[in-house]
Amino acid sequence: MNSLLRLSTPSDAHRWSDERRRDGQSIGLVPTMGALHRGHATLIERSQALCDHTVVSIFVNPTQFNRSDDFDLYPRTLDVDIALCDSLGVNAVYAPTVDAMYPEGFETSIDPGSLAHRWEGEHRPGHFAGVATVVTKLLTAVQPHIAVFGEKDFQQLAVIQHVVRDLGLPVTVVGEPTVREDDGLAMSSRNIHLASDARAQATSIKQAIDRALDRSTSTDSPSDIVEQVTNDIQRSGGTVDYVAVVDRLTLEPVTDLNSDTRLLVAAWFGGVRLIDNVALAATE
Ligand code: PAF
Repeated sequence: MNSLLRLSTPSDAHRWSDERRRDGQSIGLVPTMGALHRGHATLIERSQALCDHTVVSIFVNPTQFNRSDDFDLYPRTLDVDIALCDSLGVNAVYAPTVDAMYPEGFETSIDPGSLAHRWEGEHRPGHFAGVATVVTKLLTAVQPHIAVFGEKDFQQLAVIQHVVRDLGLPVTVVGEPTVREDDGLAMSSRNIHLASDARAQATSIKQAIDRALDRSTSTDSPSDIVEQVTNDIQRSGGTVDYVAVVDRLTLEPVTDLNSDTRLLVAAWFGGVRLIDNVALAATE
């Protein structure tokens, strides 16, 4: 039977990891902010397929929230999350307190550079510095061989890959495709806040994306696609923060579709902010 271990401080995590590494065993980390759903389960399964041991970190990181109401309202379901991790055969949950992560006098912040400036970075100032700093701290404590992140947060994945490369952190970052509800809505811990009418309207994101995918022949320009996706979402009652067709590595807008283009979307439905993205190669 699996016996799930609970780690609460960076030194607990460090010690646990040291012991496994000394025995030549590999460690996978799945960093989360809890409120786990089926999307997280696929990240865990990926880690389990690649490593001897899987650690799930659960930490609602205050420094990546640019609005205090968003931080306060973020769903916290630690007991249920731990039970889910146990049932999935996770080896350890690392759930530090805010004080353990950011002790009195903590001042360091990692600036991930230009990849973090546009899109989410523009709408959520300071967000990616918070993400880069906390992920670096989680990697330092757990010392995993691999760390698995969802592609739903596409810009976050790109920023983390960039930070890991720039700082020379000894970990392989693995991206896992977005998991969707039956009606196409990308799974997110925030979906729980959608009232039923907003929940129904929010399916328009995937419908708009699917229409864009159908139209992504080489004759349709990125700007036509941006306009169509924006209009589709607005007609369904959403408020668009941004729709962009970008290069998947630089995240800069592109003027032609190619095998490296990605469609990024962020929109509000009934006071809940949702993001989504897909690969948008020209089909012809
Ligand atoms: O994607 C998330 O859940 C968070 O941004 C992460 C990567 C766990 C950092 O707090």
